[in-house]
Amino acid sequence: MKKYKGFIVFTALIFGTSIISGCSREFSEKKKNEIKIGVTLYRQDDTFISSISSYLEDISKEKEQQENIKIQLDFVDAKGSTTNQGNQIDKFIKQDYDIICVNLVDRTAAATIIDKAKNANIPLVFFNREPVEEDLNRWNKVYYVGAQARQSARMQAEIIIEEWNKNKSKLDKNKDNKIQYVMLEGEPGHQDASIRTEYCIKDIDNYGIELEKLADDSANWQSDQAVNKMNQWIQEYGDEIEVVISNNDVMALGALHSINSTDVFTEKPIVVGIDGVKEALEAVNKGDLTGTVISDAKLQAKAIFDISYSLAKGLDVNNVQGINGKYVKTQHTKVTKENVDIYLADSNK
Ligand code: BGC
Ligand code: CA
Repeated sequence: MKKYKGFIVFTALIFGTSIISGCSREFSEKKKNEIKIGVTLYRQDDTFISSISSYLEDISKEKEQQENIKIQLDFVDAKGSTTNQGNQIDKFIKQDYDIICVNLVDRTAAATIIDKAKNANIPLVFFNREPVEEDLNRWNKVYYVGAQARQSARMQAEIIIEEWNKNKSKLDKNKDNKIQYVMLEGEPGHQDASIRTEYCIKDIDNYGIELEKLADDSANWQSDQAVNKMNQWIQEYGDEIEVVISNNDVMALGALHSINSTDVFTEKPIVVGIDGVKEALEAVNKGDLTGTVISDAKLQAKAIFDISYSLAKGLDVNNVQGINGKYVKTQHTKVTKENVDIYLADSNK
C-alpha cells in the first residue's frame, strides 16, 4: 500500500510538472509570437494622422512577415472626445493589450491615462500630441514620438524670406517694405500650433523683414474651417493680404481654395503650409502653394512601431532609431518648387 501511494504521488508530481511546464511554454510562446497593439486616435479623419496610421499598418504587416509573428494592430477613433478616449483606453487595458499608443485628444489629460496604464503595467507610446514632461515622468514605461516643431517654424520662415528676397516687387503689393499677413493656426493648446505660430513670425522678424498682422485665428487644423476664415479675411482685407501663413497643409489648401474662388486680387497672396501631404506637394509643383515643410509621417510611424515592438518583446528601447530618453522627434524637410519633384513620388499618403 505504501509503495502504491508513493507511485501515485510520483506520477502526480511528474504529470503536474509536465502540465505546468507545458502551460508556461505555451504561455511564453504565445507571448513571443503574438503582440497586441492598441492605437487611439484623436480624430481618424485628420489627414496627417491618417497618414501616420496607414504607414503604421504597412510597417506592422511587413514586420509580421519578416519575423513570422502575429501582430494585432487595432485602431480606434476618439472623434475629438476625451471621454471616448478614456473608455477606449480602459477597454485596451481590460483586454490585456501589450502596448497602447495614444494620440491624445487633450494634451492635459495625459496624467490620468498614465496612472491607469501604470496600474495595469501596460507601456504607453504617445504621439503627435505631446504630454508635458512632468506627466511623461510619472512612469518609466512612457514614450513620445513627434516632430521638431521649432524646426518646422524656422523652415516655414525661410521659405517666406527666400520668396521675399527673390520676388519682393510682386510680393510687397503696396510697396511699404512690410509683409501684410494673415495666419491660420492649428488647434489651440497643440504644441505644434503654438510653436509654429510664434517662431515663424519671430524668425522672419529677426531676419529683419517687417511684418504687419492683418488677422490670425485658429481653424483647428481643418480645411473647411480655413476656407471660412479665409473668405472672411478676403472680404475684410481683400488685396491688402500679401502672405498666408498656415500651421498645416490642409488649412493652407483651404486658403488656396478661397483665393482661387475670387477675383479681388491684383496679385494673389503667397501661401505656405507644413506637413508635406500629397495634395500640398502637388500644389507646390503646380506653383499654387509657395512651399511646405515635410513632417515625416513615415518615420514617426516607424518610431511608434519600433518602440512598441521593443517593449512588447522585451528588447532594448534605446536601440530604436533616433531615440533620446523618452523621446523621438523627427526632422523636417523644406520643400519649394525647386526641389518638390524629389518628394512628390514618395509623399506622405
Ligand atoms: C499636423 C497637423 C495635424 C495635427 C494633429 C500636426 O502635427 O501638422 O496637420 O492636424 O498634428 O494633431
Ligand atoms: Ca507690404
